[in-house]
Amino acid sequence: MIDLLLAFADERPLARRLAAAAGLPLRLVERHAFPDGETRLRLPPALPPRVALLRGLQRPNERLAELLIAAPAARELGAQRLLLVCPYLGYMRQDMAFRPGEAVSQRHVGAALAQWFDAVLTVDPHLHRVASMDEVVPGRRSVALSAAPLLGALAARRARRPILLGPDAEAEPWVRAAAQAQQLEHATCRKQRRGDRQVSVALPPLDYAGRDVVLVDDVASTGRTLVATARALYARGAAAVDVAVTHALFVGDAGPVLARAGIRRVWSSDTVPHPSNAVSVAPLLAAALRDL
Ligand code: R5P
Repeated sequence: MIDLLLAFADERPLARRLAAAAGLPLRLVERHAFPDGETRLRLPPALPPRVALLRGLQRPNERLAELLIAAPAARELGAQRLLLVCPYLGYMRQDMAFRPGEAVSQRHVGAALAQWFDAVLTVDPHLHRVASMDEVVPGRRSVALSAAPLLGALAARRARRPILLGPDAEAEPWVRAAAQAQQLEHATCRKQRRGDRQVSVALPPLDYAGRDVVLVDDVASTGRTLVATARALYARGAAAVDVAVTHALFVGDAGPVLARAGIRRVWSSDTVPHPSNAVSVAPLLAAALRDL
């Protein structure tokens, strides 16, 4: 059981939904950015023994610094058990050294979280080469929830008998989970990435002519993966391409680029605040908080 939910103002909508769903009081951490880039945090001066801190790791570098400061501060102010609710857990994609000398960020970020928090709760972490969150956050209780079934149900309601398509092999667990409960047709593409914004995609051999296709992935960042897939689908006669992702990072020019590629609608979960948020993970997080 948890006594209090702490959150930052820029994640207030999800924080409010989560506090309401879990029946928890909500307090905000005040954050001041100094001109030189340092951050001052102010927490409630007296904390109860069991505290959950909500902080997603979009824009991960500045937020990791916040956690580095907030976790020991919360303990000094009375928290004995400190849980991190991290709806988007960044740094999970670098899960091996692709070239000699590359730091395996997933392992090192996970080890830091294990040092700062007693437990970690997250949604659709990008676990490709590791089996579970236990490997990422060693020695701590950690739980990974999934928004994929919610997105699958939404796609089934909003699109016309859609094919759900994962843009790469790594998306297979999410596209399968999204499709299964709705008994939707699903498949995954083969992706080749040559750079941050250079992506090509080979479609699986299905008949796309006249079909609605919903692209399902865990995270969209520059949007180039979705754009390459949508272009290939329209070239094969798809009627409409929509997108359903858990984490709507959509950095830089992703929005206009998606629109130019003819992507009709974008749906996301509220793990990352974005105008495309269409389903809420708050009830899932609240139930997991009760179980922890
Ligand atoms: C990687 O495998 C992820 O699941 C996403 O497909 C990827 O991060 C999307 O990146 P972008 O939007 O920059 O193409």
